Amino acid sequence: MLKIEIIYNYSRNFAYYLLDLIVFVRDFLYLYGQNLLPIFYYWRIQMKVAVLGAAGGIGQALSLLLKTQLPAGSELSLYDVAPVVPGVAVDLSHIPTDVKVAGFGADSLGDALTGADIVLIPAGMPRKPGMDRADLFAVNAGIIKTLAEGIVANCPKALVGIITNPVNGTVPIVAEVFKKAGTYDASRVFGITTLDVIRSEAFIAELKGLNVADVKIPVIGGHSGTTILPLLSQVEGATFTDEEVATLTPRIQNAGTEVVNAKAGGGSATLSMGAAAARFCMSLVKGLQGEDVVDYAYVAVENGDAPYFAHPVRLGKNGVEEILSYGELSAFEEKAKNDMLATLKSDIQEGVDFMA
Ligand code: LMR
Repeated sequence: MLKIEIIYNYSRNFAYYLLDLIVFVRDFLYLYGQNLLPIFYYWRIQMKVAVLGAAGGIGQALSLLLKTQLPAGSELSLYDVAPVVPGVAVDLSHIPTDVKVAGFGADSLGDALTGADIVLIPAGMPRKPGMDRADLFAVNAGIIKTLAEGIVANCPKALVGIITNPVNGTVPIVAEVFKKAGTYDASRVFGITTLDVIRSEAFIAELKGLNVADVKIPVIGGHSGTTILPLLSQVEGATFTDEEVATLTPRIQNAGTEVVNAKAGGGSATLSMGAAAARFCMSLVKGLQGEDVVDYAYVAVENGDAPYFAHPVRLGKNGVEEILSYGELSAFEEKAKNDMLATLKSDIQEGVDFMA
């Protein structure tokens, strides 16, 4: 009887204490919860993003967008061999957002990269009218190799987004550098093909009189000429005649050349490329924060159409969590894909051979 009474008393007291604790926590959160939230938020989302080639046309546009879009508490690390880079950093630092900016010159690649969660590479030479992206291989391959070696040495776990052309061949170079160092993780290396996606969105909205925010289109393959394959058959809310497909597809594929010609020797796309790379970077950031996000990128694919191929990918805390199927192709798209694979595979092989 005495035992039962003791157990009863203990249980009752425990219940009272538990109730007190619940009331205390409830009142504490009611009074101070609002102040605590930003602390958790800040801790969860701050990122270090390094831009290699930050003083160039793409690098400056991209860095400007990241200064205004990265989560509060983030760091933006700007590297370039051009001596103007500290000035670009000072310039950006006057924009009142909670993103710290630092500039690093030619001798400070390691400092720029240490601790980076994401590295974006727009460094290298742009094309001039009459050139193909493939013509840039000779000059840009060595640049991308050196930068990839810097990443291996200073932030081997970073997610790496490559913009430097020819993307079809520079992405394999980065992968081969990582393989040689024993630090390769295919889920962390991306060729940024978002410019093909945003161009497609813009051109489709213009052609069909749609709200551009509602246009979604998969673009697969590579990032040059016919290797860029927009899947017009999968655009929701719009249909295209055979004639429209036959004119819109090459317009998207040659949009880079349209800019190169319009700039008449003054370079290639910088502003739209900066916007595209910033959009892709924010997808990487969301993935790192644990959000479920799907975007398009040129990634290594096992048993795919080619060793590297732009696919829809599910992004997460480790980069690519899943390579998704691009779905069914129309007869036009199937033929276009089969026709371009030889070019894409030879572009890839050029990158692999460069590192052999
Ligand atoms: C683009 O698509 O605009 C870039 O790849 C730059 C170029 O040379 O076309």
